[in-house]
Amino acid sequence: MLYIGIDLGTSSCKLLLVDEEGRVLNSVSREYPLYFPRPGWSEQEPEDWFAAVCGGIPELLRGFDASGLDGIGVAGQMHGLVCLDSRGQVVRPAILWNDGRTSAEVDYLNGAVGRQTLSQHTANIAFAGFTAPKLLWLRNNEPENFSRIEKIMLPKDYINYRLTGVHACEPSDASGTLLYDVERRCWSRPMLELCGVSEAQMPRLFESGEVIGSVLPELAERLGLPQGVKVVAGAGDNAAAAIGTGTVGRGKCNISLGTSGTIFISSDTFCRDPGNALHAFAHADGGWHLMSCMLSAASCNKWWMENILNSSDYQGEQRRIDAGRLGRNNVFFLPYLMGERNPINDTDARGTFIGLNMGNRREDMLLAVLEGVAFAIRDSLEIARAAGNSISRSTICGGGSRSRLWTRIIANVTKLSLEVPSTEQGPGYGAAILAMSGCGLGSVRELSGRFVRTSGVIEPEEELTGLYDERYARFSKIYPACRELFKALA
Ligand code: XUL
Repeated sequence: MLYIGIDLGTSSCKLLLVDEEGRVLNSVSREYPLYFPRPGWSEQEPEDWFAAVCGGIPELLRGFDASGLDGIGVAGQMHGLVCLDSRGQVVRPAILWNDGRTSAEVDYLNGAVGRQTLSQHTANIAFAGFTAPKLLWLRNNEPENFSRIEKIMLPKDYINYRLTGVHACEPSDASGTLLYDVERRCWSRPMLELCGVSEAQMPRLFESGEVIGSVLPELAERLGLPQGVKVVAGAGDNAAAAIGTGTVGRGKCNISLGTSGTIFISSDTFCRDPGNALHAFAHADGGWHLMSCMLSAASCNKWWMENILNSSDYQGEQRRIDAGRLGRNNVFFLPYLMGERNPINDTDARGTFIGLNMGNRREDMLLAVLEGVAFAIRDSLEIARAAGNSISRSTICGGGSRSRLWTRIIANVTKLSLEVPSTEQGPGYGAAILAMSGCGLGSVRELSGRFVRTSGVIEPEEELTGLYDERYARFSKIYPACRELFKALA
């Protein structure tokens, strides 16, 4: 039997064809535009996502016997607000996870409503990228659009809706809306009320590996699929990446170095960060997890390489960095190119180089970019460790994890032994595992444990961890010193 796992990312959609032994048979990727209509805004057209999926599926299946296709799972960028009207048309472009327009609504939620109340209802406080502040923004700024909303959904739920006609969601992605009671795994009535929406506008909740329906007959015909292919509820991309790296059950950790950078700590039981600096979400394996999300991780490197150096030779540029410079760089970089989510929750924060002198060359600046992301990862890890999570090992995935230099820096800055999965397929692989589970091949945890293998471990090195401790102490002083300035410049 065959399974398709789809990762609906921010820059592209990646599709994987996997067999029942967990072998990846083919993969296809399709890009779509990302719009920044105003500074700090970030939007996409849901129709572009669906076109990418519909174009990708026949290409993925070319040369394979499509009649063996049993199930599809979709993982997607989290938190995005997609609204449909009564004719099933999108009301406006989707507002994405890295959009920073909602600072007034976040202040209202965390201030007037109160962090404690939010945490009681949802296990979380408000962050600009979350869905509830976006709904409030829509109500305050585009009342005409707000009044036309019939259905509210997240990005991957839009794909599932177009595939099956079923308006569905599941715990991992619902957790990032701030409209969901993470502990009880249901929509939070008080939060829906506060945002002026009803439960009838929200998707029906399933577990992540549960079948929500099958591909609509005409669509199946158009895409060359057999009738009755099952579609599971899927997961937020981070929960799916966790499943795809074996981060299930108690106390496992995964770092994802994609456009965003996340640290994901799985748990068997409900858990909450007492200071709410980390997200407390439900996992797609039936459990829960803590997570921190940096808005710009691999995208800082991409920005430096492509926007500034005008180069796509990532490896060549990294080869210019002398290994002796590690832990001794006098240049520091704050990686807040889109503002920042965890742990500082500051939409006004910005990227900054500091410490430059006449002797510095461009490789010192690239090293500062790679190190700045690693230091910001450590910021969240310190909070997780202080909350009693003793983490000494982690898997690492996402585009950035292909750089041996960057993973070495992260291992030394965080003092983590980093395991690199042998098939670096990220969220799409987790989505395929969810599809297999929905089609009866086993539980999500069993399948994840059975299929995921690591290809090597990068260990922290004693000398470098010492040097990086000292650098990290300096890095930690930069944001607090700039905070007021960022506000004044915003
Ligand atoms: C997680 C988050 C990002 C997106 C990116 O909270 O906002 O990781 O899911 O795809």
